[in-house]
Amino acid sequence: MGQFKDYKILAVGLVLLVWVIYFKMFWPETIIHPPPVPFPVSKYASESMESSDWDSHTHKLTNLTHLLYWPPTGRDRGNILVSTSPKTSTYYLKGPAKATYDLGGHLEAILVARDHMGRPKTHGGDLFRAQLLGPESKAGVPGEVKDLENGTYLLSFPLLWAGKAQVQVRLIHSSEAVGVLQRIWREKRATVDFRGYFQGKERAKETMICNVDPQSIGSKGPVCQYRDEVSGEVWFCTQPHTLPCNALVGHSSGSYLKVTTPQDEALFAGNVTDKPLPSGISPILVKPATTGKRSSLALSSRPPCRPGHLSPKPSGFYHQDRWHSRFCDSRSFPTVSSILDCLAGRIVYMMGDSTLRQWWEYLRDTVPSLKPLDLHVTYQTGPLMAVETMRGIVMHWRAHSWPLRSLRTPVASLHSVAKELHGLAGGPYTVVVLGLGAHFTTFPPSIFARRLAGIREAVMALLAREPRTLVVIKLANTGYKSVYGSDWLTLQVNRLLRAAFAGLQVAFVDAWEMTSSLALPDNIHPVKLIVRNEVDLLLSFICPI
Ligand SMILES: *[C@@H]1O[C@H](CO)[C@@H](O)[C@H](O)[C@H]1NC(C)=O
Ligand SMILES: *[C@@H]1O[C@H](CO)[C@@H](O)[C@H](O)[C@H]1NC(C)=O
Ligand SMILES: *[C@@H]1O[C@H](CO)[C@@H](O)[C@H](O)[C@H]1NC(C)=O
Repeated sequence: MGQFKDYKILAVGLVLLVWVIYFKMFWPETIIHPPPVPFPVSKYASESMESSDWDSHTHKLTNLTHLLYWPPTGRDRGNILVSTSPKTSTYYLKGPAKATYDLGGHLEAILVARDHMGRPKTHGGDLFRAQLLGPESKAGVPGEVKDLENGTYLLSFPLLWAGKAQVQVRLIHSSEAVGVLQRIWREKRATVDFRGYFQGKERAKETMICNVDPQSIGSKGPVCQYRDEVSGEVWFCTQPHTLPCNALVGHSSGSYLKVTTPQDEALFAGNVTDKPLPSGISPILVKPATTGKRSSLALSSRPPCRPGHLSPKPSGFYHQDRWHSRFCDSRSFPTVSSILDCLAGRIVYMMGDSTLRQWWEYLRDTVPSLKPLDLHVTYQTGPLMAVETMRGIVMHWRAHSWPLRSLRTPVASLHSVAKELHGLAGGPYTVVVLGLGAHFTTFPPSIFARRLAGIREAVMALLAREPRTLVVIKLANTGYKSVYGSDWLTLQVNRLLRAAFAGLQVAFVDAWEMTSSLALPDNIHPVKLIVRNEVDLLLSFICPI
């Protein structure tokens, strides 16, 4: 698709200054904050880090075009009537209906996408989410949606539990909406900006605009560049009028930039986004297996959970509110003592965004003897720490560095993930959990790709000096549905995450699938049931047996 190259060409020429509509964040949550290590280097010396860093650091990631492929989304723009409609699109069983289905088999269906006038689409590119749900057994699994690129989609669901099961399909974004996302991703260097708070002597203060590159801050004047010496990560702010660059002490989110036309916005309206299709398949009955012990679940014997597994798709499913990995013997940790036994003696370093902070909070709230310290830290960005002195457990959480969207936070607390990793000795009792992604959907993919290149290198160095260190990657989860953050963008971000850590001895927790499997409304901060299962999978990697 040449999408990445286009982006580069277009982005370079793009000086159009986006103007700010309003500063109110309507991302209701608080994904965390950013960390700049102020290394204010003079005026900006435009360093083109375009793709060379990525290329040199991570060979597998060089081909973003290939990695981020998405089927053509059609050429129609500006006419909502020709976009894909959740009301007229339908799906039906591929084969004849059966009285019962075999556990371990598959159910296949055909989906026909249609526009608002009921005409079949002739191209693909829609983002559908298909699920097989078993409300009676509190079960659910994501279905595979294969885009045949001619307006039809092949849906496939593994039959993993015995009992009733019901297909549900939602249109997340029409292909036309995806086309808008792609265009913005290619053409805009940033869809949000940030604030930098400068402070000098005698209460001198200035607030300036900051961003991931000099062009996006819209300043014709001089620019301060902040470069992390270890990771090479860069950050830019307009230079204050009276204060020096190194007077930067605070950081916060700024504004959402105006990046859409009214026609674009109609494609993201509530009545066409994340809407169920009319039900097309009656509930089915899956009969228990007659052989084997676990006859109500289709789970063959699996190895203990260890890093480096290749996971099948889907990587697991829910049954009785519990997530079962399909590639490893995931355990559950239902009691405080089971969690304590697992974590005893460990130091856990969590670094990422607020979806990972949820893991820290879940453990803090579930284990009474795990006491939070830093009680007076009032920033959503932490850093946070909890300790259990009887069992020797230390649990850290800190936000990844910029471009975090957050309330005002001290710049000194914002540390680069790569730099932090370079400062860890590692070892059999060290657990590193990384959870980044949600704050990178507001920039072209090269920004996240570059960040990941540095993190990959730091993880490789950590595993080289201490191979017994456990490194766990939390993929980004579902949630947002706007041009600033969208499940489509998150899917792409997850492709980058997977590619960045491919081939390393790290474990993945597929939070995307774990938040796509149940009949719960999408929420960037998933409910406790899901967080518990995510943490149980983490604990399964820490304590595989
Ligand atoms: C990247 O992938 C595309 C699609 O598979 C391929 O056509 C292209 O040659 C690849 N480019 C490089 C540099 O490998
Ligand atoms: C779409 O493509 C699939 C696979 O090539 C084909 O089987 C199907 O008939 C096509 N459908 C239409 C409507 O063209
Ligand atoms: C969706 O809602 C908007 C108003 O919010 C309305 O103008 C539009 O016609 C609706 N679209 C559909 C397809 O119902």
